[in-house]
Amino acid sequence: MEERRGKNTQNDERIVFDGMTLPEFVPLKKDAKKRFEEIKNLECRKDDVLLTTFPKSGTNWLWEIICMLLKGKAEYMKEAKTSVFLEAIPDINDINDLPSPRILNTHVPYRWLPKQQVENGGKIVHVIRNPKDVAVSLYHFTKSSGSIPEDYHFETYLEEIFLGPACPMGSWFEFEKEFEQAKMTDKCDSIFVVQYESMKKNPVEETTRLGKFLNVDLSEQQIVDIVDKCSFQNLKHAAENFKDRSQRMKIMVIGEGAFKQPPNIYRKGEIGDWKNHFTVSMNEHFDELFQEKMKDSNIKLQFE
Ligand code: A3P
Repeated sequence: MEERRGKNTQNDERIVFDGMTLPEFVPLKKDAKKRFEEIKNLECRKDDVLLTTFPKSGTNWLWEIICMLLKGKAEYMKEAKTSVFLEAIPDINDINDLPSPRILNTHVPYRWLPKQQVENGGKIVHVIRNPKDVAVSLYHFTKSSGSIPEDYHFETYLEEIFLGPACPMGSWFEFEKEFEQAKMTDKCDSIFVVQYESMKKNPVEETTRLGKFLNVDLSEQQIVDIVDKCSFQNLKHAAENFKDRSQRMKIMVIGEGAFKQPPNIYRKGEIGDWKNHFTVSMNEHFDELFQEKMKDSNIKLQFE
């Protein structure tokens, strides 16, 4: 599989593998092919849950919800989702030492998911978010990490990075179409798809649905408590106050990758912030592109 180096907008080297620009996590910088193959060949357990998302689709949020659902308690874990972030943790073998059930997470596209999880019908949770808000979230995340300058314009980011060849994990459109195909052919009913926007609008209903998929039997009050513990404000507060940040620092490796400072994950947590960033013409252009790229797709997204 091809691995090559290109240039990003700051004239740093970017990692390109299997047609995608990759986020600059150290294992990917060192040897992207090796880490992708390690993920694909990961030894999975029957009760593993794999959370898969395009970056900035609400991964941290859903990871916390799944942890609480499986624990049966609305309580934060000290660990953060970065401790089980397959392409970013320094040593993937550390995953083998974790107790079950493991709630793993990754942004690799469907074709690179652990083969055993896919073939054995292991549970896969996929979160999808409308790409205009994903682009905005990714823009701010990238800016807060210091890997693009403070005065870098959103319009440039949208055209040159998000819609261009430098988007981390490749094109959002290709990523989601590949996942849609996988879901359509999922004979074991092992893929659960949730939209960020549905989770935001109907958190109790969506968390109940997710709980059923995970075979957990919780009361409505327990679900309500989990939803509350995982609200944007509460998770932001927990991340700042209770969570172990050392793992996060380990994977960010400030100065070694794209991360010049720790990026901000809990930024706004809203639907439709894209309206504060897209001009009318940018929006028209995006809609045209969306129609063209998604013309064979049945995914119905919520932009507001
Ligand atoms: P914004 O940048 O739009 O605020 P990920 O976890 O995949 O990196 O996604 C991060 C995005 O999810 C950020 O979006 C973040 O604020 C949002 N998010 C995190 N927790 C959330 C919650 N409890 N409710 C709503 N959005 C949340």
